[in-house]
Amino acid sequence: MTSPVPGRLSAGEPGWTTDADVVVVGSGIAGLTVALRLRHQVGKILVVTKDVLSAGSTQWAQGGIAAALGPGDSPDQHERDTLVAGAGACNPAAVRVLVNEGPEAVRELIALGANFDHSPDGVLSLTREGGHHRDRIAHAGGDATGAEIQRALVAAIQAAPDIEVVEHALALDLLPAADGGVAGITLHVMGEGQRDGVGAVRCRAVVLASGGLGQVFSQTTNPGVSTGDGMALALRAGALLRDLEFVQFHPTVMYLGPDSRGQQPLISEAVRGEGAFLVDFEGVRFMQGQHELADLAPRDVVAKAITRRMHETGHPHMWLDATRIFVDRAASEASDQSRFWEKRFPTILATCREHGVDPVTELIPVAPACHYASGGVATDLWGRSGVPGLYATGEVACSGVHGANRLASNSLLEGLVFSRRIAQVLPDELRPYADPVTDERRPGLVAADVRAALQAVMTEQVGVLRSATGLTHALDELAALAGKVGEVGTRAWEATNLVTISTAMADSARLREETRGSHWREDFPERDDEHWSGHFDVRLADSGLSVEFTAAPPSDGAVA
Ligand code: SIN
Repeated sequence: MTSPVPGRLSAGEPGWTTDADVVVVGSGIAGLTVALRLRHQVGKILVVTKDVLSAGSTQWAQGGIAAALGPGDSPDQHERDTLVAGAGACNPAAVRVLVNEGPEAVRELIALGANFDHSPDGVLSLTREGGHHRDRIAHAGGDATGAEIQRALVAAIQAAPDIEVVEHALALDLLPAADGGVAGITLHVMGEGQRDGVGAVRCRAVVLASGGLGQVFSQTTNPGVSTGDGMALALRAGALLRDLEFVQFHPTVMYLGPDSRGQQPLISEAVRGEGAFLVDFEGVRFMQGQHELADLAPRDVVAKAITRRMHETGHPHMWLDATRIFVDRAASEASDQSRFWEKRFPTILATCREHGVDPVTELIPVAPACHYASGGVATDLWGRSGVPGLYATGEVACSGVHGANRLASNSLLEGLVFSRRIAQVLPDELRPYADPVTDERRPGLVAADVRAALQAVMTEQVGVLRSATGLTHALDELAALAGKVGEVGTRAWEATNLVTISTAMADSARLREETRGSHWREDFPERDDEHWSGHFDVRLADSGLSVEFTAAPPSDGAVA
């Protein structure tokens, strides 16, 4: 299957230029960690971010960061849980890196100044989320873990005047060198003075840490900046996108009504970790008997169970009962419950109340919504993309740790661990400055106003439940949308990236004729290791997107 997505984004000629040794695209945990760790190792570091420094996905993370830090826990156990959640599609070597280097990386984050929650006697508080057999989720401010990590990292960046930050900068395309590697990057900056409009940065390496693609769907927990820009840019530069069909739908996103669009409020899995459970409209606890971990089963299992119940009953959502969670399980006074909510989940409490639900006494309406891209730019264990000088880390990357379904709270950890690794190798791999060669890629731009139609078809046909008919229909629609020509501007650049990524995702999902992890096919309801143990890689050829399958043994010990 091919599709007429452009080889590069149409944009005006650069109106300004600058040089930097390394450009880091993105300012969440992955981007800021790599920038801080490269400091003093390379010359000029430029961090570019699409909005303001703190606007990315990291600050929205509630549950926390997983690492084997508690008594009785070990990297081996964390590895097992990660591989099981990944449903046979993880890269076992990457998972070992994650779990072995995770505890030290978290300790370093604490040393940097991130204030994690501790018990009154000073022990790091750890909780449990879906798919974990141990309490191993460190959290901060109750349910404000991402916000606290972001605060600490932004403070560290602000204390590093030698790292230059450019806000409101959308990364457009890499400037190619003669060897196909990185010669620079073009940006569009909504700024003033010297750095305004389209510009070019000549550089020796680019680290993509630009986050995910949630805005492909109508409802997502991701902020508005998550339009798959980094993945689309990497694809156009010659990198492979891997495992794109594995998009995680978070089971418990607050349902705000049929017309609600864009970023939706997350109700952290940690609420279930503290004892909340799902019920249907009859009050039946439908997760019991579905999985040994019941309401704390891996995320794909719970999202599927909710969706099935919604289909069976015709209701647009299910309910989360969090009215009986207590700090002290023996306590039962309503005031204890209220106090616990205020301390443990202040953000969620405030959000629910803002939307007219008091979770202390009332059930929360919940439904699955797009949460996380488990796939992305294919990288090796050191964040290298295969395009000389281009690295990727965090949600934009596919390091192989998530497989078909990311284990809860492994995402912040992945950003941390693999960014540290990039900073270990990149200084020795820095290329000389190269002159960009004439860009032969076919330019193009999709109309800005395709977004709503794209989100509708992706949600309907490429969402939680998929089929060959629906996926083929989605691909036809996407091809039609790709043909609508746009005019230069941020919304059109984003629309082009959304169409590119959506097409790659829908085609990978169409070709994977099985159900695995977060990829659920109603026409192929079983996991099929004999045929589909392995990965789909998408590349952009002259004729359009091409998708190829490479077999790999299942990583969770299943016999292929
Ligand atoms: C949550 O708090 O439920 C989300 C955590 C995650 O995405 O890992």
